Amino acid sequence: MKNLLQATTIALSLCTAALAAEPVDVRLTVTQEAAGPRIEPEVYGHFAEHLGTGIYGGLWVGPESKIPNTRGWRNDVVGALRKLQVPVVRWPGGCFADDYDWRDGIGAPAKRPARLNKIWGNVIEPNRVGTHEFMDLVEQLGAEAYIAGNMGSMTPRSMGQWLEYMTSDSKSSLAEERRRNGRDKPWKVKYFGIGNESWGCGGSMRPEFQADLHNQYETFLHAPVVRVASGDGQANDHLVEVLMERSGSHLDALTLHYYTLPGDWTKHGSATGFDAQEWAKTLKGAIGIEGRIDAVTRIMDKHDPARRVALYVDEWGTWYDAEPGTNPGFLQQQNSLRDALVAALSFNVFHRHTERVKMTNIAQMVNVLQAMVLADGPRMVLTPTYHAFDLYKPFRGAVPVKATLRAPNWRTGDVELPAVDASVARATDGSTVLALVNLDPQRPARVQTNLTGAVRGRMLTAAAMDAHNTFAQPNALMPAPFTAGAAASPLTLELPPKSVVVVTVMQ
Ligand code: AHR
Repeated sequence: MKNLLQATTIALSLCTAALAAEPVDVRLTVTQEAAGPRIEPEVYGHFAEHLGTGIYGGLWVGPESKIPNTRGWRNDVVGALRKLQVPVVRWPGGCFADDYDWRDGIGAPAKRPARLNKIWGNVIEPNRVGTHEFMDLVEQLGAEAYIAGNMGSMTPRSMGQWLEYMTSDSKSSLAEERRRNGRDKPWKVKYFGIGNESWGCGGSMRPEFQADLHNQYETFLHAPVVRVASGDGQANDHLVEVLMERSGSHLDALTLHYYTLPGDWTKHGSATGFDAQEWAKTLKGAIGIEGRIDAVTRIMDKHDPARRVALYVDEWGTWYDAEPGTNPGFLQQQNSLRDALVAALSFNVFHRHTERVKMTNIAQMVNVLQAMVLADGPRMVLTPTYHAFDLYKPFRGAVPVKATLRAPNWRTGDVELPAVDASVARATDGSTVLALVNLDPQRPARVQTNLTGAVRGRMLTAAAMDAHNTFAQPNALMPAPFTAGAAASPLTLELPPKSVVVVTVMQ
């Protein structure tokens, strides 16, 4: 009996293996017709908060550190981020922003106050990184600054004064103070956030109260910035309605926060060592952002049919349980192939909504949540999410085009997902850029297209769903060149299971 069972099990696994090798058939028909306005480079934006080692240690080591740095900012991390062509960085929070006094972070470093970072781990915030240092970072990166102002615990006068301090070319006391602190020329501050998650950590406000307050604070911002209002993060349509109705003329962009977690807010789920069910739940969660963008867009369209106001998804990404042994308030997590797929699927959604989505900021840049880089002491490693950002570079400035994707669904347990997701755009040089994500961890996909031409591309895949890079093995998961199947015409692309493929087709 035992032998019979064993024989049956072996036969079944062979059968599964044979099935696993069988590719799923997918059809992708690409048209020449634009599907929306261009993909703004800021859609690939970032977020760096005074949280855990996201700034201190991860990005900033101080000018006196043995770790090679430029005026305190780590050369290795900044160098890696420069290669990514970071378009914009949001700072100093998140929740931290609404407890931050900008005056703590200017003047002689030794005289700056030590505050408690009550939001994140109750650790000392030394204020060694303040306005001057952050603006140096964005200049080193060649990125735009997106300053998150404090509407939760400071006055409108203080917010207005911060903006004047940074941007005034006059002889005002604030501009002169900036000069005395070492910066003669005003900085360019392109984006200014008025509060963060005002419904929660930013002040626990009712939407109606927030709208009034937003209008009040905005009135005192006397510089030409893109005025960003703190928007939804809790699937709260009413909040969006109220802000668009009462504050529509006082804002240029509204934010959306969306986090992906396989579990719930009490037990998020682990960053590694997960099964196929958790893989699928996470990807389903990531795709779920599209429903929120649709819902928010519908409300915005009602109040702003001319589409003047942009939607900034200025916090998004995965949020797992903190790595065992780390401070839970530091939100430190490993980053695997699954995160690369989350990023790719999210980019595809953003590309489908370019009429409103003009900026997004992944949470966060270094060592926090779905980071690009993990750094510890002198060591640094690039994550799979970094590589996903890198793969998608050809989409910046490209115009999405209409395409039809016919892909079967893939199912595990009670989760059903499309086997393949795609995004297609026309790049500025006339080439067609194609991103294909194979969500199925078992089966490859054969994608038949109606495209012809020379193909150049890269892919990200691995044997394990939770493949990741470590300090000991920093190149365990790296992009590999992608070649199209046997010079077929029209093109047929063979996607490995659990993969992200980005190709450029020159016709
Ligand atoms: O990114 C971490 C935190 O998540 C941010 O500070 C806050 O805005 C959000 O709740």
